[in-house]
Amino acid sequence: MDELRRAAKELVARPRGILAADESPGTMDKRLEGQGITASEDARRAYREMLVTTPDLSDSVSGVILCEETFNQRLSDGRPFPEALAELGLATGVKVDTGAKPLAGAPGETVTEGLDGLRDRLQDFASRGAVFAKWRAVITIGPGLPTHRALRANAHALARYAMLCQEQGIVPIVEPEVVAAGEQTMDQCEAVTNFAMLEVFAELAYAELDLPSMVLKPNMITPGLDRLDEATAAEVAESTVAALGRVVPPEVAGIAFLSGGQPADVATQHLAGIAARPAPWPLTFSFGRALVDQALHDWGGRVEGISAGQAALGERVRATSAVLRGSVNA
Ligand code: 13P
Repeated sequence: MDELRRAAKELVARPRGILAADESPGTMDKRLEGQGITASEDARRAYREMLVTTPDLSDSVSGVILCEETFNQRLSDGRPFPEALAELGLATGVKVDTGAKPLAGAPGETVTEGLDGLRDRLQDFASRGAVFAKWRAVITIGPGLPTHRALRANAHALARYAMLCQEQGIVPIVEPEVVAAGEQTMDQCEAVTNFAMLEVFAELAYAELDLPSMVLKPNMITPGLDRLDEATAAEVAESTVAALGRVVPPEVAGIAFLSGGQPADVATQHLAGIAARPAPWPLTFSFGRALVDQALHDWGGRVEGISAGQAALGERVRATSAVLRGSVNA
């Protein structure tokens, strides 16, 4: 367990964060097509190769989360992705859930699936270089939502996943995401996040998960994306750190925030405010869209676009990591 604790600590050690590049093939295809790029297995592979070979990425990022497809692919020089990442000084993560599916008896809500056969899959991923894994629960705010049964079902699945990860020597990233899309107020986001976290940490306690060997990946406490500008960065930071402080045990190795569709510069400003506040855990980022959107656009699916895409990613990761330098937390 000591080794797992060390690996978890290293993932969240300032000033580095985690790059989330684990969109499922279906989601990735939509993002590629949104930029006018013809989607294919090789386009998805080439895009991820462009991202992970960005010069000096490991100065700002400790690890990269891949989806299973990319984990099994190779760079154009023939190296499997996990092997190349290790050589680049980056820990390999893999998203192991199989997606959010409609939850019986809970219209409009989902439960994340993927537990069947997970032990064998984790064993295989670990043998091929996975250092950490991710499982994302999706929590939606709406009239009467979320329901307690959806929160409990998702929390239970997260705990079973996290236990299996630790059993197989993999650091679990536990991600209960309260979706930011919509018009909800910041108070609603805070109340739902608090409720979701209570359920998650109750289930993790029942399972007796080793908290110093896990990383939490939560949303920030913000108003819905349709009214994001109603809160200042200082308000977001104060509410986020206070809300998590009420529920998240100090033993957790670290907290790495998702960006949740916030514009890149806003996500970075929010992180700066959060990182400047005293907290019992290291606080860092595990952004997806806020780091890669510009890079995807500038790359454009073209070999000649690789250096422009990498310049865009490099700029974003440096700016995001910069706000973690010299701040107060461990
Ligand atoms: P975003 O930062 O784009 O929300 O993605 C992070 C992530 O991994 C969501 O599961």
